[in-house]
Amino acid sequence: MKPLNTMFLVFFLLLVSLANAKVQEHEFLVQETPVKRLCNTHMSITVNGQFPGPTLEVNNGDTLVVKVVNKARYNVTIHWHGVRQIRTGWADGPEFVTQCPIRPGESYTYRFTIQGQEGTLWWHAHSSWLRATVYGALIIYPKEGDDYPFTKPKRETPILLGEWWDANPIDVVRQATQTGAAPNISDAYTMNGQPGDLYKCSSQGTTIVPIDSGETNLIRVINAALNQPLFFTIANHKLTVVGADASYVKPFTTNVLMLGPGQTTDVLINSDQPPSQYYIAARAYQSAQNAPFDNTTTTAILEYKSSPCPAKGGVNIKPIMPSLPNYNDTNTVTSFSKSFRSLRKVEVPYEVDEDLFFTIGLGLNKCPSNFNSNQCQGPNGTRFTSSMNNVSFVLPNKFSILQAHKLGVQGIFTTDFPAKPPVKFDYTGNVSRSLWQPIQGTKVTKLRFGSRIQIVLQDTSIVTPENHPIHLHGYDFYIVAEGFGNFDPKKDASKFNLVDPPMRNTVAVPVNGWAVIRFVADNPGVWIMHCHLDVHIGWGLATVFLVEDGEGLLESIEAPPEDLPLC
Ligand code: C2O
Repeated sequence: MKPLNTMFLVFFLLLVSLANAKVQEHEFLVQETPVKRLCNTHMSITVNGQFPGPTLEVNNGDTLVVKVVNKARYNVTIHWHGVRQIRTGWADGPEFVTQCPIRPGESYTYRFTIQGQEGTLWWHAHSSWLRATVYGALIIYPKEGDDYPFTKPKRETPILLGEWWDANPIDVVRQATQTGAAPNISDAYTMNGQPGDLYKCSSQGTTIVPIDSGETNLIRVINAALNQPLFFTIANHKLTVVGADASYVKPFTTNVLMLGPGQTTDVLINSDQPPSQYYIAARAYQSAQNAPFDNTTTTAILEYKSSPCPAKGGVNIKPIMPSLPNYNDTNTVTSFSKSFRSLRKVEVPYEVDEDLFFTIGLGLNKCPSNFNSNQCQGPNGTRFTSSMNNVSFVLPNKFSILQAHKLGVQGIFTTDFPAKPPVKFDYTGNVSRSLWQPIQGTKVTKLRFGSRIQIVLQDTSIVTPENHPIHLHGYDFYIVAEGFGNFDPKKDASKFNLVDPPMRNTVAVPVNGWAVIRFVADNPGVWIMHCHLDVHIGWGLATVFLVEDGEGLLESIEAPPEDLPLC
């Protein structure tokens, strides 16, 4: 073909693909709504009066325009968890990182395009603990005319796992901030907002997942719980995992899933069992030691359409209950997470430009002299804290980091986040008390556009080791290896999967272990990376990457929207 013809062809194809992509407009009214659970009604903050909030359904390539109107009495922002936000970092949502919060009575319109992602993501408030009730599913179908890389299921059902307090969640976190103690544990887990049959006053609303004999149902599981990794299973049905965090994986079959908060997993189930009712169940995976946790079990019901109706039959047939792993069953978690491979061969950066090593873990602050004992209710009169590389992250409050960066405002953040821990120690051993108290700061890591990044995320045993779900905004990354103990570059680098590692936005770093992630810093902006246990974010288990603009036309962040909220 002549070059000119080729150019026309390329242009034509571009037009065709643009013509298919849609722009969807939505309005999210953040408002107080009475929600009755566990026998009590609370004035919960919801979107459009719905709990969970509305499900957004788009095709890969579509643009979302969501006007968020804050009619509640709290500041709010919305984060589109897992959306790459290529060049649209102003729409990412974390408060004081990419925007100032939307004040009561104000509004802000988020505009962004889904590019190259397919599967299940979600959205949630990114301000204090509002996401306890302000969250919903974001389902991304293949481009119109494209198919799933597996047989099209007859049905699809999202299942959002949530966490419910029989209290105002904002009061729960405020109390913890005042006392320095761990916040009260939740009173229930939920599936699509409902605790299910095993809780008081709950069996009326139990979520029903319909299925018919001989069908396949694609279940999109989202862990939207605030503070708890969860096991998930369905009685008598095998789960075939086909995707996670809006990336496809090589299908594998399992009886049980584990999702850290922030993670999603897409599974196919076949209705190959006698028509009946089967419980879908989830409960805690608890890896921290000596820490109280909510040990209740949430259920929904997988109901065959042709099953005998339990009420009408006169006999009260109870749905079949699955068994779940023990709360501390780390072996099950390990074999599950080791099963993940990308569906196809992928392009993992082979060499890296930035080789980063971040410790992640808890800590305890000595009681400051101007505090009274009521404010130091942590272990032995301390206050809980948390850090990465010994820096406990503090959010600014006058400008967002992205605004300060683009406007050149000094004094909001510093660019001296350490590339490795300031002191080397036996991270997973018996750590000296002198290393339990981090420093505080708003420290970021500057990354050159297009640089290849590796981060070793190393859990510490300070206070307690724990499985931390580490989430990076603005990127998907490859998990090239995971292991226990201290990461050893000499021994462990040989185990890296650089062929078909899974791509995710949230990695559940093994308790008392490590995970290695790689990505190319090709999305300019300001991106927070944090533990998705909200209790740990508040304590400072977070850091920020500032990815500089590149040289090219499409290598810099777009101009800020005119309605961007100011502090
Ligand atoms: Cu799903 Cu920064 O969060």
